[in-house]
Amino acid sequence: MNRVHVINRLLTSIPQSRYLEIGLNRGGTFIRIQADCKIGIEPMWPRLQLFWYLLTNCRAKHFRMTSDAFFAGHSKVLEPGIDVAFVDGLHEYHQSLKDVQNCLRFLRPGGFIVMHDCNPASAAAAVPLPQKGREPGTWNGDVWKTIVYLRSQYPDLNAFVLDCDFGLGVITKGIPESTVLCTPDQIEAMSYDDLAADRKRFLNLKKTEYLEEFLAGRT
Ligand SMILES: C[S@@+](CC[C@H](N)C(=O)[O-])C[C@H]1O[C@@H](n2cnc3c(N)ncnc32)[C@H](O)[C@@H]1O
Repeated sequence: MNRVHVINRLLTSIPQSRYLEIGLNRGGTFIRIQADCKIGIEPMWPRLQLFWYLLTNCRAKHFRMTSDAFFAGHSKVLEPGIDVAFVDGLHEYHQSLKDVQNCLRFLRPGGFIVMHDCNPASAAAAVPLPQKGREPGTWNGDVWKTIVYLRSQYPDLNAFVLDCDFGLGVITKGIPESTVLCTPDQIEAMSYDDLAADRKRFLNLKKTEYLEEFLAGRT
């Protein structure tokens, strides 16, 4: 199971579904998502690729800018609401938290926020920002802290992480299944070793089969 399967599963049976993706890279996920309306944000798009995208994804809307610039000046396009938002832009705690908070403003009732990179497998993959000269390889950053923040500071949100594809966070409005007790200062000070010592509890980490159980419990 990967992000494409999870997002398409969440969108199944939503009429007139609306999808937002923050951070498209080459658009490998975006192009595979089945939604009636798709909106993508990517600051680094080469113009040639953008042209190709407009040809192949003519019903989609694309914004060539950072998520902050989008939410500051272009978010009117989200006013009809969003059913699934996929947060996969800058893999940094405060930026991913801000992206989630902005998405929450437009989330339709029953909607989902999916966040990539929530369960880094090593300290090297979890460095807060990629350092110059580091070994090439997976970079998930410290996005995982956003899950800990939501689970400790938002009593009106439920969040869990599916144990696949570097950790897919699923965030919905509603009573949380469980919470963690951490202050913002404690989260700031947490290290990868803290996460590794108790990732199941901090992330509410679930096997992939849990997704169907969760969805069945919502109907
Ligand atoms: C891991 S890639 C996205 C992969 C893509 N979602 C997929 O599944 O194929 C992260 C992307 O986020 C973009 N990005 C970086 N900072 C961003 C920001 N502040 N706002 C939006 N996107 C950003 C990068 O240019 C990069 O292409």
